[in-house]
Amino acid sequence: MNRPAMEGLRLNVPAYVKHARLIAWVAEVAALTQASDVYWCDGSQAEYDRLCAQLVEAGTFKRLNPELRANSYLACSDPSDVARVEDRTYICSERKEDAGPTNNWMAPAEMRQLLQSGDQALFKGAMRGRTLYVVPFSMGPLGSPIAHIGVELSDSPYVAVNMRIMTRMGRGALDVLGENGQFVPCVHTVGAPLAEGQQDVAWPCNSTKYIVHYPETHEIWSYGSGYGGNALLGKKCFALRIASTMGRDQGWLAEHMLILGVTSPEGKKRHLAAAFPSACGKTNFAMLIPPAGLNGWKVTTIGDDIAWIKPGPDGRLYAINPEAGYFGVAPGTNTLTNFNCMASLTHDVIFTNVALTDDGDVWWEGMSDTPPAHLIDWQGKDWTPAIAKETGAKAAHPNARFTVAALNNPVLDAEWDNPAGVAIDAFIFGGRRSTTVPLVSEARTWMEGVYMAATMGSETTAAAAGQQGVVRRDPFAMLPFCGYNMSDYFQHWLDMEHKLESLGGQLPKIFCVNWFRKGPDGKFVWPGYGENMRVLKWMLERVEGTGKAEEHLFGLSPGYGDLQWDGLDFSPAQFEQVTNIDKAAWKAELELHTALFEQLSYHLPAELQATKAQIEARLAD
Ligand code: GTP
Ligand code: SPV
Ligand code: MN
Repeated sequence: MNRPAMEGLRLNVPAYVKHARLIAWVAEVAALTQASDVYWCDGSQAEYDRLCAQLVEAGTFKRLNPELRANSYLACSDPSDVARVEDRTYICSERKEDAGPTNNWMAPAEMRQLLQSGDQALFKGAMRGRTLYVVPFSMGPLGSPIAHIGVELSDSPYVAVNMRIMTRMGRGALDVLGENGQFVPCVHTVGAPLAEGQQDVAWPCNSTKYIVHYPETHEIWSYGSGYGGNALLGKKCFALRIASTMGRDQGWLAEHMLILGVTSPEGKKRHLAAAFPSACGKTNFAMLIPPAGLNGWKVTTIGDDIAWIKPGPDGRLYAINPEAGYFGVAPGTNTLTNFNCMASLTHDVIFTNVALTDDGDVWWEGMSDTPPAHLIDWQGKDWTPAIAKETGAKAAHPNARFTVAALNNPVLDAEWDNPAGVAIDAFIFGGRRSTTVPLVSEARTWMEGVYMAATMGSETTAAAAGQQGVVRRDPFAMLPFCGYNMSDYFQHWLDMEHKLESLGGQLPKIFCVNWFRKGPDGKFVWPGYGENMRVLKWMLERVEGTGKAEEHLFGLSPGYGDLQWDGLDFSPAQFEQVTNIDKAAWKAELELHTALFEQLSYHLPAELQATKAQIEARLAD
């Protein structure tokens, strides 16, 4: 059925769409952006294949050799559009205090003027010459009481096909919406309108970028980027920034956490959720293969990036993964570090910004020790090991990624899409720190755990535009993703303790880890990856009440003899290198906590200051 929206544009609304408010909104955005056509995604395989063929035709995609990577594609972005842009990301709450000092803020009316209504409003005519794709999606299993529906209107077919992998996308989501259901409206444009007859480029985008959230009205408006979290709006924008404000209002948590199941040799299964900042090891930890020497342990993946966590009537926390796929970091991934991930990537993958081999496959730094003799790098240039040696050119961008369905994962947990979620036994927080922070420590109380998470520091990575390797505070790994005031977020976590206790539940334990301490040679001392199972096993023993620990300045840690070392040559001296607590370094670290608390002084829970004072007193001892 074609319902004319305005002169010259048909909305092409399929007969199965019954939601008048949705149709009216699509008409409004089509009129604002002056899209030349409207296409409603149904989420079918045929549609996916058709859009991918269209992307090949347009030069955005290269089809990879089907004998090496069946049904897979490579996209290379504009070199200026390769990561999330945190300095262009806004939380436009009515009150500046509600966005807090860690978020960029602009008054909603002012931002709407800039984007939608002003004379020079950026979205006006932004989709001229392009098709507007209506992308309905569910975050969480279709129809589940904990899922939420979103609809992204985007002029990027690359976004449409990625959203089909990353979410439950298509007609099913519209069926859930029915005639009057609630949805989060997400508007996205690459900001590159085409004049009559103008030839498109392979990766349209704009040097002006705005990633905007209106937490009160649950709206998302994204302008100028086609990459990752800037453009796939179900992920960071919805499932973290908007969902965190929903969680604050409704008593639940939206977190930047992987969720894993771990089964002991005796068959006892536990579930953990772990928050590490971007490019700090979530996907790897969620797919971990225990090393030889810890036979019989098994790790299964529930989620690799985002967790929605709700208290159950039994006072336990239940977590679901709202996503349906992984948008994971390629560089560093290989069959030794992450076998399960490599096994997931054999078919039906979209690769972005990796290198192309001469036989039509993909390669990235760290995939193999010996790189191929010749590649086309992510910027379309010839690449050889000699060129790399001379110029330092990377074959793949450090934030190159793959998009793949969770169903491709050979260790996908049977409960991964259980709408009831899995009960969380422990939380883990971990940053990327070459110094100071020990391999693992356990919080003695919920309060101490919240303190550790709130003050966590991490070295910046290629996942966000900007300088890399700089230590910054990244509370709960949520610095770029919290949709409201960080101090209120801390309070929300502190309140959870009392809520769970009043329901008679058992609180999850809280641990802090750091896989990234470096030695004097600048190399990682801890072998990481599968070997992290040794630390995971100790944490589980602590959960069971059997593991031994030693008390220190800010928690409990294992001694050398408390970890199982079978199959790994790791000396007590090396262990000392990754676990020692240097008092001078911690004095300097505490000064950074002080600076953070000064920045967050508005609404900062007093208990956090009190906990800091206790640690300082112990340090001075
Ligand atoms: P986002 O998708 O950005 O949220 O990242 P993530 O937290 O899922 O990180 P991921 O697992 O993709 O790892 C990022 C990078 O860190 C990759 O290059 C990994 O190879 C590397 N890495 C992961 N785990 C470890 C580890 O235990 N030790 C070391 N040294 N590197 C690791
Ligand atoms: C992250 O940066 O934490 C990611 C990648 O998971 S993106 O989807 O681009 O946000
Ligand atoms: Mn992430």
